[in-house]
Amino acid sequence: MKRSPFYSNIFLYRLEMSILHKGKYRKRFQDVVDLIEGNITSVCELCFGDIFIAEFCRKNNISWMGIDLSPEFCRYAQGKGFNATLDNVLTAELPNTDMYIIQGSLYHFKDKIDKFFDRLLKKKGSIIIAEPVRNFSSSDNFIGRLARRASNAGIGHNSFRYDHKSLIDELRRQQLRSPYEYEVIHIDREMLIKITCP
Ligand SMILES: C[S@@+](CC[C@H](N)C(=O)[O-])C[C@H]1O[C@@H](n2cnc3c(N)ncnc32)[C@H](O)[C@@H]1O
Repeated sequence: MKRSPFYSNIFLYRLEMSILHKGKYRKRFQDVVDLIEGNITSVCELCFGDIFIAEFCRKNNISWMGIDLSPEFCRYAQGKGFNATLDNVLTAELPNTDMYIIQGSLYHFKDKIDKFFDRLLKKKGSIIIAEPVRNFSSSDNFIGRLARRASNAGIGHNSFRYDHKSLIDELRRQQLRSPYEYEVIHIDREMLIKITCP
């Protein structure tokens, strides 16, 4: 399946995300890096797309590795000297790390969400999820069409998006399958969640 052009060019992707996030594209990453604190010395960013979190880690002597399906995003990150791996998060070997981060991408795993959580919860690291819960992709206007077009990673269309309720429902359902604590850090366009495994 042909990938969205937005997942094939980092500058086009940034432009599209800046439109969707009304100029707050970089601020979203800041919200996430604010949670990289204390004893965190290593981070694995799933579906990283861009390199803002990687840059923060480099500046702060935190080891970063990223996994993404987009060859162009991986090449861009590798060109900047980052440890980016071209792979599918559902099948890639996941490193042991202090923290896993997935931002703006959980909806890609809707159909295989149990597998996604099982893989991460087997590990010991905390998990940060930043997921859009106020979405435009169901709107029948320019922004809605842009959001829908932008989200094909090459393995299928993604018109599904979480909202506040469906994301919390999913976290609770997963908690019943495999106990963990979660904290909602904040809710804006993205809901920011920290999961701590026992
Ligand atoms: C909406 S972008 C989010 C990028 C970045 N985390 C952000 O918040 O701006 C989704 C990213 O997930 C990647 N992706 C989608 N499905 C994936 C999978 N199964 N394995 C690895 N990466 C995947 C895409 O290539 C894309 O870079």
